[in-house]
Amino acid sequence: MKCFGLSSCLTVTCAAATPSARPRIKLTVPKVPRFSTSRRLVLLPPRRLNEKFVCRAMSVDTVIDAMQPLYAKAVTSLPGPLADLVRNTLGEQLNVLGVLLAFVVIFVSFMLSARAFGGEKKNLPPSIPGGLPILGNMLQMTDKRPHKTFFKWAQEHGPIFHVKTGSINNVVINSADLAKEVMVTNFDSISTRRMTTAMWILTEKKMVAMSDYGDEHRMLKKMVVGNLLGITTQRANRGIREDALNTMIDDIFKDLKGTEGMVDIRECIKYALFPFSMRQVFGYAPEKLFVEGIGELGKWDIFNILVIDPLKHVIEVDWRNFFPALSWVPNSALETRVKNTHDRKLKVVGALIEEQRKQLQTREPTKCYADIVLTEFPNLSPILLKHSIWEPIIESADTTLVTSEWALYEIAKDPKMQERLYSEIISVTGNKRMVTEDDLPNLPLLEAIVKETLRHYAPVTLLPPRYVSADVKIGGYDIPKDWDVLINIYGINWDPKVWKNPEVWNPDRCLGDKSLDLGIKDFRILSFGGGKRMCAGMTQAFAIIPMNIAAIVQHFELTLPPNENVNAQDTVYLTSHKLHPLRAFARPRVSQRLPKGQTSSSLDDSSSQRCPAHGSSLQDTPANGCPAKI
Ligand code: HEM
Repeated sequence: MKCFGLSSCLTVTCAAATPSARPRIKLTVPKVPRFSTSRRLVLLPPRRLNEKFVCRAMSVDTVIDAMQPLYAKAVTSLPGPLADLVRNTLGEQLNVLGVLLAFVVIFVSFMLSARAFGGEKKNLPPSIPGGLPILGNMLQMTDKRPHKTFFKWAQEHGPIFHVKTGSINNVVINSADLAKEVMVTNFDSISTRRMTTAMWILTEKKMVAMSDYGDEHRMLKKMVVGNLLGITTQRANRGIREDALNTMIDDIFKDLKGTEGMVDIRECIKYALFPFSMRQVFGYAPEKLFVEGIGELGKWDIFNILVIDPLKHVIEVDWRNFFPALSWVPNSALETRVKNTHDRKLKVVGALIEEQRKQLQTREPTKCYADIVLTEFPNLSPILLKHSIWEPIIESADTTLVTSEWALYEIAKDPKMQERLYSEIISVTGNKRMVTEDDLPNLPLLEAIVKETLRHYAPVTLLPPRYVSADVKIGGYDIPKDWDVLINIYGINWDPKVWKNPEVWNPDRCLGDKSLDLGIKDFRILSFGGGKRMCAGMTQAFAIIPMNIAAIVQHFELTLPPNENVNAQDTVYLTSHKLHPLRAFARPRVSQRLPKGQTSSSLDDSSSQRCPAHGSSLQDTPANGCPAKI
């Protein structure tokens, strides 16, 4: 094999395979002065091979000099986003020899995988045409929102198709029936997460949401559902949620004084939600915290370190994830960036835990999650402890905010719908008291608004990849072991075979549809996932989101400023945010926050909370946030 016209530096040898042994390729870099030891890579191709490739170069310096212009040319000729990616990752961090090795190994793995596909007769799902050698379909995915590209392809090629990203084979699922086959029927073979470098560093696979299915996962999920996200604890935490709601409404009244009626709705929700998520974990929301190695932090510094920075960095793209054979190549800039974020987060969580431990020496444990974990689970390893405490903070401070904001945006855009919702609320509460969670079962339009918003603006548009650990059949197609499964929630929620005009936000389509349970049995709206890995925080989400919407609409009439419509694009961090924070005119309907008042059902605790996703009353369940689990 010729290596870019150079001679005598690299030797790539492909050893002959015996029928019983798997073949191996050795790639050796002899006598390279830049490395103290020679680097060796062993590849495990799927099929037998019996060739020998030799690349020659005169010396390492000659290789480096020769590669410099080639590399620069290659990068300039790439389309914008990919060139950025290559510059930011390859360009900054690899020396030129690394680039040379990269090209060689990518080429070899491509040859091998091409041979692997050629030999076997499998009924594979249709491939997206136009893919390139080595890169696969990557250059066709220039939109930073891959769920939209997949949705478009699903309309052209059907609900299941094969996409190649580098050397990774992905099957993309875009329909409810096929998703059920993945998440329920074939769960045992598709239960493991494929992690990107950033996800690995930030979660260490120690969170419920990111760990592989198994004993540790089940133990952690049971702990968080049984002591925080289950219905009994959620019922007990109702007071904290009400405080958060009061703070939000008071803040909007305060903001109105200085801004001629214009309010930043996202800020108001955020200012209420983060203290709420800290209180449900620690029993209080710290205003200040001293962290060894970082210094004195205020409330919003803590928010940035625990929530914003991890969300920003978890989506960092590492080109090596598309070419696992090259995972040995250093990408230190990315790793350092993400690791710094991770270390700061662990330091802050560690300091919060130490503070909690100190408090526990002077008082009895309370019912807050941190006290329960510290006293009842003393054998958790330090790292599991930190992740268990951090997980509910980041999860409750983001997804519910995103959904509430999109719903209020649509409501502000649609005065008729807003008026219908206001009338529904007032018909239940009157105008002397504030809406409460007890009222939720009597507010069907509100429930439909929440469901339609979750359909139209799913916060998690594409589930983190799941790895196929044994050959399976999906939709009649063979899905080979080692492939990744990408479940496109957005594609399922917008499936035109299920939803007429899916691009239109129309709560009436969900009104009165009793079977719509968001993934418990009915997979038409799959925003919380489904099966055994379904979201554990669904109960909490259904307590927070409708209450945010109802309380705001009960107190204020919202209208959008003229440019707001134009700004209503989305962007994807880990969740799909509104690109610009929602700013709206808020005309008060009452002069101040309405008092809590007393509702007829608030006296009867057994009927006081229902899970609006499926309308049944909330009872305890050990394994999931909602009672009716598959
Ligand atoms: C609108 C709100 C929310 C949405 C749309 C949402 C969505 C999701 C999705 C799509 C998954 C992955 C499911 C899968 O892989 O099949 C998930 C998992 C999870 N979510 Fe949520 N979530 C929300 C709120 C919350 C909240 C408030 C919490 C907790 C405070 C939470 C805790 C979890 C946990 C622990 C998991 C992991 C479950 C497992 O892997 O077994 N979620 N969520």
